[in-house]
This record gives sequence, C-alpha cells and structure tokens, in this order.
Amino acid sequence: MEKVQAIRGMNDILPDQTEGWRKITRTLENIVLSYGYREIKTPIVESTALFKRSIGDTTDIVAKEMYTFDDRNGDSLSLRPEGTASCVRAGLQHGLLHNQKQRLFYQGPMFRHERPQKGRYRQFHQFGVETFGFSGSEIEAEHILMTWRFWQALGIDKKVCLHINTLGSSDERERYKQAFVEFLTPLENQLDEDSKRRLESNPLRIWDSKNPQTQALLKAAPRLIDFLGDESRADFTNLVIEIKSAGIPVVENPGLVRGLDYYSHTVFEWVTDSLGAQGTVCAGGRYDGLVKQLGGKASPAFGFALGFERLALMVNQEDNAPLLTGFFACEREQDALRSVVLADQIRQENPRLRLEHHGSPIGLKKFMQKANKTEATYAFYVQSDEAGMSVLVKNLTTSEQELLSRSSLISFIQAL
Ligand code: HAM
Repeated sequence: MEKVQAIRGMNDILPDQTEGWRKITRTLENIVLSYGYREIKTPIVESTALFKRSIGDTTDIVAKEMYTFDDRNGDSLSLRPEGTASCVRAGLQHGLLHNQKQRLFYQGPMFRHERPQKGRYRQFHQFGVETFGFSGSEIEAEHILMTWRFWQALGIDKKVCLHINTLGSSDERERYKQAFVEFLTPLENQLDEDSKRRLESNPLRIWDSKNPQTQALLKAAPRLIDFLGDESRADFTNLVIEIKSAGIPVVENPGLVRGLDYYSHTVFEWVTDSLGAQGTVCAGGRYDGLVKQLGGKASPAFGFALGFERLALMVNQEDNAPLLTGFFACEREQDALRSVVLADQIRQENPRLRLEHHGSPIGLKKFMQKANKTEATYAFYVQSDEAGMSVLVKNLTTSEQELLSRSSLISFIQAL
C-alpha cells in the first residue's frame, strides 16, 4: 500500500533537530523575558477577514498564499500566515491595549502557500515580539538591540546585517506614492510584469522586484526619505545614529518596503548571505494604524518576527552539540531498585547529564553492546559483592574505564 507522506513544504522536525531548536527557543525566551516581555498564545485558525483587513487584500500573502477554507458553518477561516494580526485581535478582544503599554512575545507555526525551497516552507515557525502603547523611537531601539542580543547569544552576529528604512506617516507615504507613480508611469512598458501590475495595486512593492531592468530604473526614482516631514526624518536619523553607535552593522536601504500593508515609519530586516535566496532571518517595523484599523482606539505599535527554520539553519551545528549523555544499568536483580535510585541521584548532581536507565538487570557484555548502539557518551554499570556496591564507568568515546565507589562516582559526575 502506498505510504501517506507529509504535505509538501510542511516538515517533520525530528529528534535530531529538536535539541537544537529547544536550545534556540530557550535562548530567545530568556532574552525577551529579561526585557520584561510576556508570552501570548493565540489560535492557529482565525477568521479570514482578520488577515484581509490587516495584512491587506492586495498583498501576495492574502491574495495568493493563505490557506483559506469554509468551516461547517460556512464561515471563511484561514490558517494564520503571521502573528501580528492575531496579537492585535486578541489584545482588542481582551482589553489589553487601550491606554496600556504591552510588551508581548509569541511563537508557533504559520502557514503560507509559497513555492517551497531551502528556508521557505508552507508551514514554518516564527518567534515574534509586539509592543503596544510606545510611540517613540526608544522602543524601536530596544527591539533592534534585543535582536542583536539574540544573534550574539546564538553566535551568528558576524553573519547578519541590519537593513533599515522608513515608510513615513500615511500622509507622507501618500505624497510619495503619487510622485513615484508619476515617475514610473511613462516607463511602464520597461517594467517587468509583476511591477506593471503593482503600479496600480501596490506601487511601493515595485521596490521589491528582483528584475535587474526594473532595479536599474529605480536608481533614478524619487526617494521616500525626501518626502518626510522634519519630525519623521529626525526620529529616523537619530535611531540610525544610535544603532550604529551600539556597533550594529546597518545598511540604510530605501528599497526596503515590506510585504504587509500595515507598516508606517521605521521598518527593518535582518539579512544574511549564508542562506542563499531566503536571506531574511527576521523582519518587522512600526504599525501605528493597525489597532484602529481593526476596530480599537488608536495605539502605537511596533514589532518583529524571526523565521525559526532560517535561524536554525544558521546556528552553528557545533552549538547544537548534544548534552552529556549516559546509559545506566545494573548486573544483579538484588541491586535493580537501588540502581534506579542511584541513577536519580546522579541526574540531580549534574543537570547537564541526560541519563537513560536500561530498566532491568543485564550482563556486562550485552550491556556494553547496547550502550555502544545508543548515542550515550558514558556507560554506567552497577556491580556488587560482599564489600558493597561499585560502578563501572566507561567513556564510550575513548573506551577508558574505571571502577568507582558510590561516593567517588558522585564526585566524578559533578566534575563532568
Ligand atoms: P514577514 O516578513 O512576513 O513578517 O515574516 C517574518 C519572518 O518569517 C521572515 O523574515 C522569515 O524569516 C520568516 N518567514 C516568512 N515566510 C516564511 C516561509 N514561507 N518559510 C520560512 N520562513 C518564513 C511578518 O510575518 C510580520 N508579522 C512581522 C512583524 C511582527 N511585524 C511587526 N510585528
């Protein structure tokens, strides 16, 4: 019979990988918790209208990539393609946003029907952060410094670079859009097909085109930064100066426009060239208009999300080295229960040690054969005679072994 396979672009995360994932998760969680962020969990399925109204009808995500279906009541539902819209919906529904400051984080699977390739999947995982009620660039600096801490803690800070841009207020952006469309309209027949379509529906996204001819035309295009009022310009310039002074590698990228409609003012992406085509590891920005747009009282908002799979691909495999592991058994029936208690004591002496007990008494030769088949680095074998209990400890990598008394075993474990 034909075997049932996982859906294309949706991956199993196997035990070999989950250890690395857990380590990354712990690192990210510890950092955001140390900045005072609190976790929020929202459903994976939401009403389709939520994403249409927030991400935007004409964006690729909503127009082409959502997993949308009618449930048994005939309501249109979608698997979440991102977490920001759900955070705002939940914040509004539970009264967390009005006149309040919130620092939130979330993690979990997201779904987009994109063409799968390395670093781009149909089910992928994000770790995201959203803040509400903070209008100044201080919170923007906090987010960027916090992401920088992520990369340093995970040992990938030499592999990433921050791209940053400002989209201005909606008025500033509207004025710019007009000038941009006026500039491109006479050149329309030189644009690629996607960009021609976007000239009507979402002109700023033309900056995202990978087409070299389109990119060449954009070199002479008006820049959004020249359409900013004094305040927007000063906020952005000061933020960039501050980030640079923190030693963060920054590129001011006027072509960075983001693929979701809710952004205004500062937007950023952390990019790497170590992942091939899918080089954006983390992205976000300001979205002050979204809370009102989804029916709440206006509240400033800023956030980002990182792609977990992309991050895991980057984090050095050596950093994911398994913890210290051991395989444990005893020789004689009469020591069976005591050996379980001893194994437990050993685990407490060294929390880094993953110790698996064989379960029942076993002969030495068979035990060592089994131990060699596990991924354990140490084998522990309890023996006893009239003089009492002793433990044979074998380093399975070097084959060195020694017989230890119970008390010297404890010192040995503590020193590992
Ligand atoms: P986004 O740029 O669509 O932004 O996604 C954020 C990150 O998720 C990307 O930089 C990438 O690392 C990862 N990602 C996106 N799509 C895929 C995919 N198909 N496969 C693997 N990884 C992927 C957002 O989702 C916004 N909600 C971010 C945000 C939060 N803005 C404000 N707050």
